Amino acid sequence: MSTPARKHRKQVHLAVQLPAIHNVTVWSDPRSRSQIAFESFAALARTAERGLFDFFFLAEGLRLREHKGELYEYDVAGRPENLTVLAALAAVTDRLGLAATVNATFNEPYDVARRIASLDHLSGGRAAWNVVTSFDAFTGENFRRGGFLAEADRYTRAAEFLDVTRRLWDSWADDDVRPDPARGHFVRADAGRFAHTGPHFDVSGRFTTPRPPQGHPVVIQAGESDAGREFAAADADVIFSKHNRLDVARAFYADVKRRLAAYGRTHDELKILPTATAVVADTDAEAAAYADEITRAQVGPETAIAHLEAVWGRDLSAYDPDGPLPDVDPDPDALVLRGHSIFRTGRAETARRWRALAEERDLSIRELVIEVHGGQNFVGSPRTVADALDHFVQTDGADGFILVPHLTPHGLDDFVDRVVPLLQEKGVFRTAYTGTTLRDHLGLGPAPTRRQEGAAS
Ligand SMILES: Cc1cc2nc3c(=O)[nH]c(=O)nc-3n(C[C@H](O)[C@H](O)[C@H](O)COP(=O)(O)O)c2cc1C
Repeated sequence: MSTPARKHRKQVHLAVQLPAIHNVTVWSDPRSRSQIAFESFAALARTAERGLFDFFFLAEGLRLREHKGELYEYDVAGRPENLTVLAALAAVTDRLGLAATVNATFNEPYDVARRIASLDHLSGGRAAWNVVTSFDAFTGENFRRGGFLAEADRYTRAAEFLDVTRRLWDSWADDDVRPDPARGHFVRADAGRFAHTGPHFDVSGRFTTPRPPQGHPVVIQAGESDAGREFAAADADVIFSKHNRLDVARAFYADVKRRLAAYGRTHDELKILPTATAVVADTDAEAAAYADEITRAQVGPETAIAHLEAVWGRDLSAYDPDGPLPDVDPDPDALVLRGHSIFRTGRAETARRWRALAEERDLSIRELVIEVHGGQNFVGSPRTVADALDHFVQTDGADGFILVPHLTPHGLDDFVDRVVPLLQEKGVFRTAYTGTTLRDHLGLGPAPTRRQEGAAS
């Protein structure tokens, strides 16, 4: 595998996600531990920090998913709240970034700004916020909001939400806490003052939380659409992308990086990190066999049928997962999977593509689901995996990866012990943390200093 000469080499950024809610996690494996106990989160975070990773990441689902009107029961369901978990992890880690997915649709900027700023204080500048934009009425019912937001408005709300959040972080100057016993003043008189009026938010008052150590904690975006890409190009520090196949990833990377200039931003100000899995064993052949075993555990017979039903919008439980695709057409109007952004649009087209692929390759239902939604990304000996990761980054498929181990919490151990040293040997991965904040790890530079004109708009 040829990669550009060493002097041009990009550094690889690595993060880890403790997976849940998706079928990546093989919770039925006897080695799998609790998805709820703090020790699971702490063990994975400690391993990531031992591996000098940039950050630890938690996704979020705000409503238990339902499938055909029942609780979706094949994947892990039920987890503690992200910022609470990360605050506890701040106490057992020193350098590792801590990234929480928090929804911009069903929350309020004041509360989110306060909670992210608090995590940044507690962790000494290691907080990140993954801004997601679910709009669905099913999730909204939990908040007595139903379908209050049209899909087209998701990102205008998210952009304004983020703008207000940053104003709140900026409402305190770095040196506003200035205890002066002689005069009896603890803070600067004007600290925390803010006001904002816009289409989605009309807020003013005083913000309770002093400016975070990072100034602006790191902002991550995870969304695919054109509006999502613009939002990321304008405002995010990191994209959590799903594009982990090199050809598609390169096109996505080029597209998003090209959009940065319109916002006066440089190529390096936005890092693109796809989700990825890595399966490591002594030899390539052993790793391939292990990867196959993992994939079949992730896409069992029931999961394969459930995936198909989500696209078809029909009960397909009578079909054999090891047999051919159903000959009935999808029902474009029926939604059998609720509380999940996957397969919500373009299902007729997805079904057409899946059918064509299954026919062309003679795939059973389960083989098809494995082909389109399963499989492992980096498989091989430690050397093979390190070379492939490096090649992916050097050829502009990504700036690094958010790794998702299939076992909680020890699924990252082999990668850290066996692949990280090889990346270091290649000169593409740090051998020690050189900074203390997450912005440092990501090479983002300091946040803009507090706006001098004050916080009012
Ligand atoms: C890689 C990736 C991860 C995501 N993670 C979450 C998540 O943890 N929680 C959530 O509510 N939505 C999550 N989303 C959904 C997005 O926030 C968004 O609602 C969805 O992608 C649709 O937006 P789009 O039309 O811009 O693609 C994720 C999306 C992607 C692509």
